[in-house]
Amino acid sequence: MMKLTPRLQTVADFVEKCDCFLDIGTDHAYLPAYIVENGIAERAIASDINPNPLKNAQKTLEQENLNEKITLRLSAGFENIRENEAGEIAIAGMGGMMIAEMIADTPWLQNKDIHLILQPMTHFELVRKELQVNGFEIDAETTVSEGNRVYLVMSARYFGTVSQKPAHWIYLGNLLNSTKKSDRQYVEKIIKMLRVKAEFSDDKEVKEALRSIENAKSK
Ligand SMILES: C[S@@+](CC[C@H](N)C(=O)[O-])C[C@H]1O[C@@H](n2cnc3c(N)ncnc32)[C@H](O)[C@@H]1O
Repeated sequence: MMKLTPRLQTVADFVEKCDCFLDIGTDHAYLPAYIVENGIAERAIASDINPNPLKNAQKTLEQENLNEKITLRLSAGFENIRENEAGEIAIAGMGGMMIAEMIADTPWLQNKDIHLILQPMTHFELVRKELQVNGFEIDAETTVSEGNRVYLVMSARYFGTVSQKPAHWIYLGNLLNSTKKSDRQYVEKIIKMLRVKAEFSDDKEVKEALRSIENAKSK
């Protein structure tokens, strides 16, 4: 049985019971293997832009005897994925800019039956922004420590409405007042990064976010 690292386990914990799970950028296909072995999905599609990771994935499927339940698919983002193929979709271990582009390029994700589990490595603000302008809500998000890094994992669904958020939301989501240790570490790191940016640039978005953080703290 597949055992996941804390980062991928946190992603897996957000995946809900479904017929078909899709993992974009699967590499070794550890995540879909875990999801299917644990009965969370009946079957899965493990997709990757590069053939070599799919060779790694093929080895995992053979080791775990999952060839009949997991399909490998060469695909840049959602390019070779059809609408309605999967209800639960993970995109993990990729830069936030790339994840944001995939969301922008795939209008059929704007469907109330689709659940996205996203784990950007960088540029979390681009992912939150793209979700917000396209009518998604982040219904849950958390961080997890692995080695000496803290990773962010978010769960998002399409609601079709664009709700107003405070200026700091794109950077911190709803984690500003969380007491969980890794969330605190994440928040402190982002605030530090915003302060450095504010000192060396005239980025209005950053300055507004810092003001909004101060306001939220003083309430
Ligand atoms: C760092 S690995 C992450 C693997 C796994 N998702 C995880 O979180 O551990 C990133 C994988 O995404 C794939 N990838 C990069 N860009 C992609 C894209 N545009 N579409 C699909 N896969 C992509 C890479 O080939 C690589 O296998």
